[in-house]
Amino acid sequence: GEDPVHPQHPAVCVEEEPAHLEPGVYIENLMKVYRHGKKLAVDGLTLGFYEGQITSFLGHNGAGKTTTMSILTGLFPPTSGTAYILGKDIRTDLSAIRQSLGVCPQHNVLFSMLTVEEHIWFYARLKGLSEEQVSAEIEHILQDTGLPHKRCSRTSTLSGGMQRKLSVALAFVGGAKVVILDEPTAGVDPYARRGIWDLLLKYRQGRTIILSTHHMDEADILGDRIAIISHGKLCCVGSSLYLKTQLGTGYYLTLVKKEAEPSLSSCRNSSSTVSFTKKVGSNLAFTYMNIKGNNRIVVHT
Ligand SMILES: Nc1ncnc2c1ncn2[C@@H]1O[C@H](COP(=O)(O)OP(=O)(O)O)[C@@H](O)[C@H]1O
Ligand SMILES: [Mg+2]
Repeated sequence: GEDPVHPQHPAVCVEEEPAHLEPGVYIENLMKVYRHGKKLAVDGLTLGFYEGQITSFLGHNGAGKTTTMSILTGLFPPTSGTAYILGKDIRTDLSAIRQSLGVCPQHNVLFSMLTVEEHIWFYARLKGLSEEQVSAEIEHILQDTGLPHKRCSRTSTLSGGMQRKLSVALAFVGGAKVVILDEPTAGVDPYARRGIWDLLLKYRQGRTIILSTHHMDEADILGDRIAIISHGKLCCVGSSLYLKTQLGTGYYLTLVKKEAEPSLSSCRNSSSTVSFTKKVGSNLAFTYMNIKGNNRIVVHT
């Protein structure tokens, strides 16, 4: 039969869109072909991201996460298709979109000679806040990041985790309504990672947050919805519960024996299934065993 873990034709699995929420970002049939190497990086992506939610954008290295996010932020244009941010088209309304957009790129872009406070000031002024609004914003961000003691430190003297946390917080400066975070916790120590999670949960209300990651646990814990892409295509999107009920198939336990077992040799070359029932406590558990080549036994309960 078909291997349940690796179906040959994975169907796109999409949960019904949350009708009571506004889509802060809507990507429509987006395509990106890089000129160098004729690489199809994003392949007909259609996907909504909703206000008041964190949407985890999960995918392997090279899946097209950064490319999608770079198109949303206007770094380069789509080959075809488009996206709407707060109803505005990225092909025509980019300068209006940028007023309400916050971004944390995959690699930190901090100015090593500026202090933490100066960074917040700089980004807040760029977003058009007045001097008075800026000083209030500086206090808020310093509190929320737990960096008041680093106020006057140059960012080059901060730990990697603190630098990343500051970069994430800067994306929210000036009340950005749509916030795009490209792997905000990649390469960050566990303590700073938890700090970043708390920051995102605190800032989620009233915002559309897109968070790319390849940590499954993070996608699960933070994401109100999880969108999984692979090779530029959408594989599935929905709440954690929906994805688990649709795709979860119990637990797999793979055992590999060192020595060949004579009794198994007859089925070594043909993937065969052995079924048996086993009494576990008062429940009758049904188990089937898949015995594959090289004495590999997959137990599916
Ligand atoms: N500037 C570029 N020129 C050509 N190919 C690129 C460029 N940037 C990314 N790619 C390719 O596009 C694909 C998607 O990359 P990317 O969007 O960075 O994926 P992810 O962020 O999910 O790891 C990869 O195969 C990558 O090699
Ligand atoms: Mg990337």
